[in-house]
Amino acid sequence: SRKVIASPSILAADWSDMKGELEKCIGAGLTHIHVDVFDGVFLDSPHALTFGPQMVRAINNRFPSLTLDIHLCVDRPVRFIEAMAEAGAGRLIFQWEAMSENQLQSAIQFAKLVRESGMNCGVSINPVTDVEEIFPLLRTELIDLVDILAVEPGFGGQTFNPIALEKITKLREWIDTRNDKAELITILVDGGINKGTSKFVIERGADILVAGTALFQHPSGMKDALKDLNLP
Ligand code: DX5
Ligand code: ZN
Repeated sequence: SRKVIASPSILAADWSDMKGELEKCIGAGLTHIHVDVFDGVFLDSPHALTFGPQMVRAINNRFPSLTLDIHLCVDRPVRFIEAMAEAGAGRLIFQWEAMSENQLQSAIQFAKLVRESGMNCGVSINPVTDVEEIFPLLRTELIDLVDILAVEPGFGGQTFNPIALEKITKLREWIDTRNDKAELITILVDGGINKGTSKFVIERGADILVAGTALFQHPSGMKDALKDLNLP
């Protein structure tokens, strides 16, 4: 059977005890961490201001075994590539909607720079964006992950938008009919994942389930939280 993993979004962790929270993740057998980087500009709110390269470096230094997926919900993401590479990021996930003029060309340029910096590159799409829009980008073989947002990015604990399920199906079909590097693309689903929604996401063909609230704010702890997601 396919391997499906959970990746905790530290947006929903207790920020006053990040070390303790990450120890819980490792204790529960988790290998990946999802870091939402909000700059207060792309998501235009003083509350949408989170972690930068210094946090990534601190986590990477203390917990070098964790794979750090960095979700850049920022203005001009190209500015972050070098600093994130130096900080130890494993993969940069950019927001397709953040690429303004010549969207495809800017995305290709971004992905090339990310790869030249020794990281993997993922692309994320908002609930309103059709998944077909990114197929030309995926054909370039520069992208190894698609982040399908099931909520508007900005904060945790929102309700899962089922539009994400249709996109997973379409993307899974598209990937499974490739015979180039695009057939290796990982499907990540981000936002609103919990006991009730995880099974649908898994059925449709997701590989990574990002969960914030469901993992960090479970009443009986991280291990039980993980069981609730019913990974195969
Ligand atoms: C959405 C973020 C998600 C978010 C998920 O703004 O990109 O990573 O933290 O949080 P939950 O799992 O609580 O919906
Ligand atoms: Zn995210």
